[in-house]
Formats: sequence, C-alpha cells, structure tokens
Amino acid sequence: MQLLTLLIALAVVGDTAMALAPKILVLGGTGFIGSTVSRIAVDSGCEVTSLSRRGTPSPDSDPLPGVNFLKGDATDPAVVQQVIGDGDYDGVVHAVGMLFAGSLNRFASGSGSVPDPGTTYDKITRQTAFAATAALDALAQGGSQQRPFVFISAAEAKWGFDGIFEGSPVGFLHDYLVAKRAVEDELLNNKPSLRGVVLRPSLVWTKRRPGALLPVAAFQIGSRLGLPFIDRPVHVETLASAAVEALFDSSVRGVQDWRGMEKLAESYKANRGAAGGTDGSIAEL
Ligand SMILES: NC(=O)c1ccc[n+]([C@@H]2O[C@H](COP(=O)([O-])OP(=O)(O)OC[C@H]3O[C@@H](n4cnc5c(N)ncnc54)[C@H](OP(=O)(O)O)[C@@H]3O)[C@@H](O)[C@H]2O)c1
Repeated sequence: MQLLTLLIALAVVGDTAMALAPKILVLGGTGFIGSTVSRIAVDSGCEVTSLSRRGTPSPDSDPLPGVNFLKGDATDPAVVQQVIGDGDYDGVVHAVGMLFAGSLNRFASGSGSVPDPGTTYDKITRQTAFAATAALDALAQGGSQQRPFVFISAAEAKWGFDGIFEGSPVGFLHDYLVAKRAVEDELLNNKPSLRGVVLRPSLVWTKRRPGALLPVAAFQIGSRLGLPFIDRPVHVETLASAAVEALFDSSVRGVQDWRGMEKLAESYKANRGAAGGTDGSIAEL
C-alpha cells in the first residue's frame, strides 16, 4: 500500500519535473522579494539556500526558519560559481539588485541593502546573473531535464530605451533596464539547458511598507485608466508565490507580466496551498 502511494506521488509530480524536496538557491534571499520567495519555497517543501553579503535577514525583518544562509558577494563570479557548483541546485531564483547606485538605496530597498561603492547596474544585475546562469547551465548539461532559473526582472512600462530617459530624473532607469533585458536575452536565448522564467513586476508592494503605498496607489490608478507607460503593481506574495510555482511547473517559461504572475500565484494557491502572507495574500489595493 505504501509503495502504491509512493508510485502515485511520483506519477503526480512527474509532470512538474522537480524532485520531491528540490534544492533551491535564492540569490538575494534576505531581500524584500527574495526573503518572501525563500519563505514560500520552504513552506512548499524546498530545501532553500540564500546568498547575500550580510548573510542573515536584516534585524527588523521576520526570521526565516528553515533557510540555509550563506554570506558572499554575488558580484564575484568565483563566489557564485562555487556556491552553485557545490550545492548542485535543482533551481535558482535571482533576486539580487539595487534601485539606486549608492547609499540612497538604503531607503529604496525593502531590506535596507546598501550597494558597495562602484556598483553599477551592469555589475549587480547582468554580471551576477550571467555568472549564475553559466554555473547552473554547467550543472544541467548532460542531464535529462532543464533546470529552472527564475529571474526577477522589471516591467517594460512601454518606455523607449533611448531619448526619453536622457537628462531626465529617471535617467538611471535606462541602465537599470538595459541590464535586465541583457539577462533576459541570455537566459531565454542562450541557455537551452535551463528553463528560463522572467518575472517582470513594476512596483512590488506590501502593507508592511506603508511609505511605498502612495506611488503604488498612483500606479494602480494609472494602469486602470490604461495609461500606456504605467504597469500594474504586484503584491510581494503574488510575485513570490509565482516564482515558486514557476520553479515547480515545467510548463512555465519565458516572460511573465503581472497577468502571468497573478495566474501563477493562483496555480500556486490551488496546487500548493495559500501563500501565508502577513498582511493578506495575493491581494489588490
Ligand atoms: N522592490 C520592487 O518594487 C521591485 C520592482 C521591480 C523589480 N525589482 C527587482 O527585484 C529584485 C529584488 O529587489 P528587492 O526589492 O527585494 O531588493 P532588496 O530588498 O534591496 O534585496 C536585494 C537583495 O540582494 C542582496 N544583495 C545586494 N547586493 C549583493 C551582492 N553584491 N551580493 C550578494 N547579495 C547582494 C541583498 O542583501 P545584502 O545587501 O545583504 O547583500 C538583498 O538580499 C531586484 O533585482 C529588483 O530590481 C524590485
């Protein structure tokens, strides 16, 4: 009877292509988004490792029981290569990044992360992700299955890359998005042994960060009015449960906007239980 139960369980997970307790690495697993991904992945039965410079979550954030914390600089390709090679991970989530180069990022970052001096968008996004995709690709080659790599990117927002940014207060977004798109291209077009999933949120929100709610409300209204350059904000629980569902479901690949993330989050809820948010999950403003 027990053998029969096991065989049925294996048949059920067969189409989702992940081990029963998959080993997942979250790059930036102590961040605002990465820590939510880590918590939901642990709740879903994953063995989760996080890599960040500080190592553990910031003192004013929730503890993350069950996560194995590593301390290291992801902008050093040797560190990333060693961590991924040693861990033989079934899948990777890339949630490392910065909004502002410099100490101002402390206020924009949900985890108070401060970039090292001289960090550029290319370094923190493209170089870290290229090192991680190369290392996971090396593990996946020769295997029978693609390994999932989920990249937390950023919304298109219908902005042109050139001209419109020049000399504007949001000029930095040019370099931010160029780095994001370079990773997407590498992941989706040059790494056939990986199952690339690109999540493209605009603003990511939670009621626990009330300071961000004003722009979130403005974006929410703008997107409902159909303004072409505004994308709908995504709740952090929606984004994180979408990332975990994408790890498990082998049919998920490619770019997912807010609609794709909401669909994935619903599948997560149906397949793996409701995301246990602390301020109401998968919600809208
Ligand atoms: N929050 C949003 O509204 C939003 C919207 C769209 C896209 N995104 C994207 O989502 C991703 C995560 O954003 P977030 O809001 O979660 O940011 P966050 O709270 O600042 O988290 C960043 C994470 O990366 C780690 N990190 C930074 N530099 C590192 C390095 N050199 N080596 C290793 N770890 C490093 C940080 O830990 P340490 O500081 O301890 O190293 C932290 O764990 C970013 O790529 C961002 O572009 C965010």
